[in-house]
Amino acid sequence: MNAAPTALVVVSHHRADSLTAHVGDVVAARLKEAGYEVDLLDLRAEGFDPRMTEADQPDWDDRDKVYSAEVRAHMARVLAADVIVPVFPVYWNSAPALLKGWVDRVWNYGFGYGRSKPRLAGKRMLWLGLAGAAEGDEFAAWMQETLERVLREGISFYNGITDAAVAVLYDTEGEPQIVDADGNFTKGEALTGDARAAHYAALDRRAEEHLERFLELAPQTL
Ligand SMILES: Cc1cc2nc3c(=O)[nH]c(=O)nc-3n(C[C@H](O)[C@H](O)[C@H](O)COP(=O)(O)O)c2cc1C
Repeated sequence: MNAAPTALVVVSHHRADSLTAHVGDVVAARLKEAGYEVDLLDLRAEGFDPRMTEADQPDWDDRDKVYSAEVRAHMARVLAADVIVPVFPVYWNSAPALLKGWVDRVWNYGFGYGRSKPRLAGKRMLWLGLAGAAEGDEFAAWMQETLERVLREGISFYNGITDAAVAVLYDTEGEPQIVDADGNFTKGEALTGDARAAHYAALDRRAEEHLERFLELAPQTL
C-alpha cells in the first residue's frame, strides 16, 4: 500500500489571528480530508528569522555546503513534501519578507537549484496569496502576472518544480481600497454583520476551490 501523500502548508503571517493563518487552517483541513498527511509550518509560530545569515548564504564554489541546522531541518520538510502550499498576504505585489526570507535561506544553492538533476523535481506547488485588491481592480491582473513571474517561474520553476500555480484570494480587507487613474486613494464602505460573515465564508470556499482545482481533488463528500 502506498503511503499517504504529504503536503507542506507554509503559513506566513506575523499575527496568529490573521486571515492568512485562518486560510492556512482551512487549506490544511481540506488537504487532510483529501487524504494528505499535512505538515503545517507556521513561520511566525516557529520563530523563523527571514534574514540571511553567513551560515546560510550560498558558497558558489561548494554546492554541498552544509547549511545551519535550522535550515537543514526546513530542507528536510520541503523534501518530505509531495505538495507545497505557501499561504501568505500579498505585500507590494510579492511575498511578504517572512516568506521571502524562508525561500532565501532554505531554497538554497545545491538544495533547490544548482544541480543537473533538481532534487525538488516532481513536487507540486500552489502559491496561495491573499490580496486586499478587488478582483476587478485594474491592478489585479497586473499583480497576478507579477506573482506568476516572480513566484511560479522565478522560484518554483527555477528550483525544478514545473507543476506550480499561483492563486489569489482578492478582497481580503472587506473594505475596498481604490487607487484611481490620478493616483488618488479612497476607501469604500466596510462590510459589517451578516454581509461580512458571508464575505469571509466565501473566501474560505474560494481557497478550497483553488486547492481542489490544482490538485484535482475528488468532490467533497459532506
Ligand atoms: C505592507 C503591505 C503591502 C501590501 N501590498 C498589497 C499589494 O501589493 N496588493 C494588494 O492587493 N494588497 C496589498 N496589501 C493588502 C494585504 O494583501 C491584505 O492586507 C492582506 O491580504 C489581508 O490579510 P491578513 O488579514 O491575513 O493580513 C498590502 C498590505 C500591506 C500591510
